[in-house]
Amino acid sequence: MERTFLMVKPDGVQRSLIGKIVAKFEEKGFQLIGAKLMMIDSELAEKHYQEHKEKPFFPELVDFITSGPVFAMVWEGKNVVQVARNMMGKTNPAEAASGTIRGDYGVNVSMNVIHGSDSLESAQREIQLFFNEEELLTYNKDI
Ligand code: CMP
Repeated sequence: MERTFLMVKPDGVQRSLIGKIVAKFEEKGFQLIGAKLMMIDSELAEKHYQEHKEKPFFPELVDFITSGPVFAMVWEGKNVVQVARNMMGKTNPAEAASGTIRGDYGVNVSMNVIHGSDSLESAQREIQLFFNEEELLTYNKDI
């Protein structure tokens, strides 16, 4: 089954949006198989955002993602990578459609509440970066 990595960013945690965000993915029918509230250190931030290393906003990106707790999650489900991206909306909340997470809650491109893997390859890499295999639980939710 397809898996993706999603993370409520420091702005979302601080604004008590974890529950609302988790509920959206649960209601969509996806299965939460791993989650933790954690601090990201600069080493992990630089690895996670390695593709943006040359971008002018990279230092700002690392500063922000290490500024407070994040809520890291692994979700499982059919086409979960792409569907979760659609549910998050565009990176810039000003361009994100109403009804999407960033459209409804995002403030600006930095404080855009949530990160989600942009491809199957990124999902695999990001899941391995944040979670050990023992932290991921597969279980029957149709009880
Ligand atoms: P995310 O999905 O976490 O992946 C990379 C992040 O870079 C993106 O969300 C934005 O929050 C951030 N980002 C993109 N463009 C800019 C920008 N111009 N200034 C600051 N941050 C940006």
